[in-house]
Amino acid sequence: MNRVAIVTGAARGIGASTVDALVNDGYHVIAVDRCRDIPEVPYALATPAELDAVVARHGDAVLGLVGDVRSATDMQLAVETATRHFGRLDAVVANAGVVAAGEALWEISDAAWDAVLSVNVLGTRRLIEAAAPTLIANGKDAQSRIVAVASSAGSTGLYHLAAYSAAKHAVLGLIRGVAMDLAPYGVTANAVSPGSTRTAILKASAVVYGLSSEEEFATQQPIGRLLEPTEIAAAIVWLCSPLASAITGADVAVDGGMTIS
Ligand SMILES: NC(=O)c1ccc[n+]([C@@H]2O[C@H](COP(=O)([O-])OP(=O)(O)OC[C@H]3O[C@@H](n4cnc5c(N)ncnc54)[C@H](O)[C@@H]3O)[C@@H](O)[C@H]2O)c1
Repeated sequence: MNRVAIVTGAARGIGASTVDALVNDGYHVIAVDRCRDIPEVPYALATPAELDAVVARHGDAVLGLVGDVRSATDMQLAVETATRHFGRLDAVVANAGVVAAGEALWEISDAAWDAVLSVNVLGTRRLIEAAAPTLIANGKDAQSRIVAVASSAGSTGLYHLAAYSAAKHAVLGLIRGVAMDLAPYGVTANAVSPGSTRTAILKASAVVYGLSSEEEFATQQPIGRLLEPTEIAAAIVWLCSPLASAITGADVAVDGGMTIS
């Protein structure tokens, strides 16, 4: 029987790569994305066509679902769709995230602060709270998994990204807490913290810093290059797999050494 996962923010970037890698590992996947812009977020989010393209390259193994991670109803629907359409749910990947603001903390509007905190933190909570009863019901030996995508900004402070840093620190705290809540049930919860990865968010961050190109971020990482979404996806899929059975509450840095010191 194929394992089944839900991935949020799945229409492009790290989320789309995670869908690809999970399918390669034998999963069936519900690919969820908002597919619509958020006014306070200063760059375009994914389009319905991008989500359709992810689904199209996997045939029956992937079902697309337009939904917002901040909505309890939408996340509940994702869980119900997984169990109804594919018959089970083994893993959820809280990947959807946005970056906004690009100002000093005291200059950030309440609307931008709320957008960053709500998508990154509330969105992670909404997915987990919708999925937890099903993952617990799988039983202690079922290798049920939660993975959240945090960031190097979750363990460091970054210039003009205080809201994003606060949100990603909160994601790590949430994962550590829920790992304790779920440990008695055999469900693990971990975070993956990417460094600068070649996606739309990085392009938006380059604008925040007034850089001519996102390539300039490569120098922040000891390995001297940007990361590819496939490199983050590989760690996510490993944490979803039975191989990671002894790991819970961990923050796995996939950052080319950015947070070594
Ligand atoms: N790219 C990097 O350098 C980097 C570094 C560290 C962490 N991250 C994190 O990786 C994750 C994936 O980002 P990415 O780099 O692939 O960027 P991205 O912008 O390409 O992908 C994010 C996806 O999430 C979707 N999304 C946004 N808000 C949503 C919502 N409310 N509900 C549902 N879907 C929503 C977007 O439409 C988009 O498809 C994010 O959590 C981000 O914070 C990225």
